[in-house]
Parts: sequence; structure tokens; C-alpha cells
Amino acid sequence: MRKLTGAVCAAAAMAISTGFLLAQDMASPSEAFRIARGGQLYDKWWVVLNGTKPEETHPAYPDDGQYKADATWRCKECHGWDYKGAEGAYSSGKHFTGIVGVAGSAGADPAAIVEILRAEPHGYTADMLPDDAAEDLALFISKGQIDPTTFMSDGMSSGDAAAGQVYYEGVCVGCHGLDGKKVKDMDPLGAIAGNTVETMHKILNGQPGEAMPALRVLDPQISADLTAYAQTLPKE
Ligand code: HEC
Ligand code: HEC
Repeated sequence: MRKLTGAVCAAAAMAISTGFLLAQDMASPSEAFRIARGGQLYDKWWVVLNGTKPEETHPAYPDDGQYKADATWRCKECHGWDYKGAEGAYSSGKHFTGIVGVAGSAGADPAAIVEILRAEPHGYTADMLPDDAAEDLALFISKGQIDPTTFMSDGMSSGDAAAGQVYYEGVCVGCHGLDGKKVKDMDPLGAIAGNTVETMHKILNGQPGEAMPALRVLDPQISADLTAYAQTLPKE
């Protein structure tokens, strides 16, 4: 390779970094995008970041818990899909940990939430969650939480399935198919959708590592309607 002089190198570096900054400014994501990304990080951060899956069990995960290794590093595993921790769906059953929810941190200063993630008992290092990811996660916790139980009755979605069908056939059908069974490595959507709070979370924020859209930009009622429709699809 041709050797560049120091001055040329510096000029080239500056041109590259200026171009990079301009490109970055122009593509600077909106807060809604960052909140949805935070929601996906809450789901499974290492998949979103193309990072390394943790192998050890999280030190704050209870010894008598049912899960091990990477699963115990997902925010949702300790704090729940409904963000209510031990006061929500994970108050009993195989996901029980007794750990608080994050609903109490809705509205909190995102910088303070980042500190919570870096400190004990969490210990998410910058190698795991780089600053931009920790900041997006904090935005999600502070500004992105809905109370999914307001869209539920008897555990199922209380949304309008007929309204949801129109969105489903417009937005989801290309990937999931009319019957919800088109994605090969996934159980039928009709079966998965029985978990109302998880389905609401995924529709609002998207699926980690997939091109699935995040419908957070629309009224959350639409996500509830979609969930209600998905619950009518074949379960097997
Ligand atoms: C292994 C279990 C575990 C995991 C995984 C976990 N947390 Fe926590 N989290 C806790 C515990 C325990 C507390 C309570 C700490 C305390 O009271 O000092 C807590 C507290 C919090 C709080 C403050 C709660 C409040 O409102 O009072 C926030 C915010 C939080 N966690 C966010 C997260 C996020 C975001 C993730 C994912 C990156 C995460 N946590 C992953 C165990 C966990
Ligand atoms: C670009 C393709 C694409 C679109 C559009 C799309 N999805 Fe998905 N979706 C996927 C893929 C791929 C997965 C991941 C399957 C897996 O992990 O095995 C997924 C996962 C899901 C899951 C979680 C499944 C699980 O196992 O946890 C739900 C719920 C879901 N999609 C619902 C929807 C709904 C409702 C819509 C429309 C609003 C939609 N998707 C639009 C591709 C898409």
C-alpha cells in the first residue's frame, strides 16, 4: 500500500470523520426509534447488538430460579413483559424471581437509569451494553412503558380483533402469512399470541435481530387490536 505522509493522513482522517459526522447527523434516529430499540434491548440485548451471549448466570438471579446462563441476563426475565416484576405475570410460575418491576422507573431521569444498569446488582458493562445502547434502554424504561393490563381482560387482549385484522393483513401478512404460520422457525403466531403482554411488547418494539417493524409510532390501541386478532389465528 502507498505510504501517506502524516499531514495527508490527518487531512484524510478529518475528511472521513467530518463526512461520517454529517452522515450520522442526517440519519440521527428519532426518539421513537431509540425507544423501540430500547424495547428490543430489554427483550434480548445481545441479539440486537450482535454481541456475545452471556454464559454465566446473572449474579442477581435467584439460586432456586428455573433459568440459567444467557436467559437470566434478559431484562424481561427479572422484570417481566408487563414491567411489573413480582407484582405482575411473574408473581408465580417458572419465571418467578421475586424481583421488583421497572414500572416505578417510568418518568425517571434516563441518566440515572443508565447508572442503575452499570451498578450492582446489575453490572452491565460497556462491553455488554455500550453507552448508546444503555441510553436507548433507559429511554425505553423512562418514556416507553405502557401498562399492558389496561389493554387486557382475563389475560387476553381486550382490543378489537376486526380492527386488528385490517392492520395484520396490511403490515404483518407478508412475513407471517394469513394463518400466522409463515415464519418457519417460529411457533404459530396464534399460539404465541396467547401471551398478551409479550405480544404487545413485540408489536410495539419489534423483534430483536429481525426486520419486523415497531408499531410504537401508532396508537398502542392498534397493537392491542392486532394482538386480539393474532389470538384468533390457528394455534397449531
Ligand atoms: C437477574 C435479575 C435482573 C436482571 C436481568 C435485570 N435486573 Fe433490573 N433489577 C434487579 C433487581 C434485583 C433490582 C432491585 C435493585 C435494588 O432494589 O437495589 C432491579 C432494579 C431495576 C431498576 C429500578 C427499579 C425501580 O423502579 O425501582 C431498573 C430501572 C432496572 N432494574 C432496569 C433493568 C434493565 C433495563 C435491565 C436489562 C438491561 C435489567 N434491569 C435487568 C434485577 C435484575
Ligand atoms: C419483515 C418481516 C416481518 C414483519 C413485517 C412482521 N414480522 Fe413478526 N416476526 C418476524 C420474524 C422473522 C420473527 C422472529 C421469529 C423467530 O424469532 O423465530 C417475528 C416474530 C414475531 C413475534 C414474536 C414471536 C416469538 O417467538 O416471540 C410476534 C408476536 C410477531 N412477530 C408479530 C408480528 C405482527 C403482529 C406483525 C405486524 C404488525 C409482524 N410481526 C410483522 C418477521 C416479521
